[in-house]
Amino acid sequence: MAPQLKNPELLRTKPFINGEWVESKSTKTFDVVDPATEEVIATLPDQTPEEIDHAIQITKDAFDSYKKTNVVDRSRWLRNWYDLMLENLDDLATLITMENGKCLNDALGEVKYAASYFEWFSEEAKRNYGHTIQPANSNNKIITYKQPVGVVGLLCPFNFPAAMGARKAAPALAVGCTCIMKPDAQTPLTALAMAHLADKAGFPKGVFNVVLSSVESTPVCGTKFCESPLIKKVSFTGSTPVGKLLMKQLSLTLKKLLMELGGNAPIVVFEDAKLDQAVEQAIASKFRSLGQTCVCANRIYVQAGIYDEFCLRFAEKVKAFKIGNGFEKGVTHGCLINTRAIDKVEEHVRDAVGKGAEILVEGGRLSDLGKHFYSPYVLGKATKEMKCFGEETFGPLAAIARFETQEEVVAECNDTPFGLAAYVFLESLNRVWQVSEALETGMVSVNSGIFTDAALPFGGVKESGFGREGSLYGMDDYTVVKLISLGNVYG
Ligand code: SIN
Repeated sequence: MAPQLKNPELLRTKPFINGEWVESKSTKTFDVVDPATEEVIATLPDQTPEEIDHAIQITKDAFDSYKKTNVVDRSRWLRNWYDLMLENLDDLATLITMENGKCLNDALGEVKYAASYFEWFSEEAKRNYGHTIQPANSNNKIITYKQPVGVVGLLCPFNFPAAMGARKAAPALAVGCTCIMKPDAQTPLTALAMAHLADKAGFPKGVFNVVLSSVESTPVCGTKFCESPLIKKVSFTGSTPVGKLLMKQLSLTLKKLLMELGGNAPIVVFEDAKLDQAVEQAIASKFRSLGQTCVCANRIYVQAGIYDEFCLRFAEKVKAFKIGNGFEKGVTHGCLINTRAIDKVEEHVRDAVGKGAEILVEGGRLSDLGKHFYSPYVLGKATKEMKCFGEETFGPLAAIARFETQEEVVAECNDTPFGLAAYVFLESLNRVWQVSEALETGMVSVNSGIFTDAALPFGGVKESGFGREGSLYGMDDYTVVKLISLGNVYG
C-alpha cells in the first residue's frame, strides 16, 4: 500500500559519517518495521560502541574547520537543505508514514514544519549578535560575542522523525557546531534521508553525521554521547526518566544540555470560550499523532456551565474519526508506534474507569486493522486521582473534568511535576493574562490547539526540561558567550 519513493536515493540503510554511507563491522542488525502493516521496511546495522566513538571523533575533526566557516555559507547550506526538503516533500512524508504510522497528511505537515527550521535558522544564522558593555572602569571596554559550543550530540524521538532532528540540527549548524545524530531506532529512515539531503545541500564532510543503534543498544550509544569529552552539548527530546538518567551521566563531563521532556498539558475551557472552536481545537491538540506528542493535551478541564455540551460535541467529533493505514485516502488518524503505547492507554483507561470515570466514547484495540491500531477513548468525570491526569498517557485517551472557578483550575493545572505546554480557551482578555501568567508551563496557547512554529521558543519548565528550541533564542543553546575585555584603552 505504501507508495514507491520518487527518489529512491532517499532510502538509505547505512550510517552517514564523514559524508559517506559507511559499512558497519557490527555483526548485529535491527529491523525497521512499518507499525501499520508490521512488515519489515529495512534492516540496519546496530553499530558497535567503537564505531560510535569513531563517529564522534570525525564530528570533532570536522568542527575544527567548520567553526571557521563563513556565516553566509552556513546560511546558504541551510537554505539549500530547506529547499531540498520541500523538493522531496512527498518522499519524506512517505518515509515518515511508513516508519511512524501517522497519516500522510500529518506527515506532509511534519516535513514542511521540519523544513521551516532550516529556513528560519538560515536567516537567524546572520543574527548571532553579541554586545558591547561599559564596565565600571571607563578605561576598559567589554565586548561579547557568541562562539559555537562545539560538537553536539542529538538524541531524537520517534514521534516527529523529521521535525525534532531539524529543530536541533538547524540552530547548531547555523552557529558553527557540528552534529552527530542518533535517531530513534524505530524511525531512523527519515533521518538518513535528511542526511542525504544535507550532503546535497553542500555541508562539508563530517559536519552532519547519523549513527545507528537498535533499541537495545540505545543506552550504550546515549552513554557514549554523554561521557565523551569531545561532545560539548547534548540535546535530547524524550521521556523525563531518560532525561534524568542522561543528566547523571553528563555530570562526568559537565556538558551543556538541552532537555525537551514529557508534558502533562492541561486544556482549560472557560464558559466564555467559543464552544465549537474550543471543541475542535481541543481535539486537534489531543489527537495530533494520536496523542503521541509532548504537547498533546493530557487533561481537559471544562467549566461547569458548558461541561455537558462540550462533552457531547467533543464525543460526536471523535466518533467521526477514521482510523486506518496512514496511506489510505480519508484516514484521519493512523496507528500507534508499538504495543507498549497501547498497553499504557489501556492501563490508564482501566484505572480511570475503576475510579469512576464515565465512558463517553468507547475505544479499544482494532485488531482487524493490525496490532498497533486503537480507536480513541473519551472519558468524562475525570479527577486528579486518576493516572490519566497524573501521568502523560501519550496515546488516544481524552479525559475531561469539570471545574468551577479560575483559582481551583489553575491550582489543579499546576499540581504536577511537569510544565511544558498549556492551553486555555476563553474570550476575556484580562483572564487570558491572569491565567497564562499563573500557569507553570513554558508555553501557553490561547484559543488554539496547534501552536508550534519555528519562530517560537519551544521548551518547558519543571520536570519538562530546559533550554529553548526554535525562535530568536534557539541558537543560544548551541553557543557560549565569549568575553573580550580591552584594558587601558586610554593608556
Ligand atoms: C513535541 O511533541 O515534542 C513536538 C511538538 C511540536 O513541535 O509541535
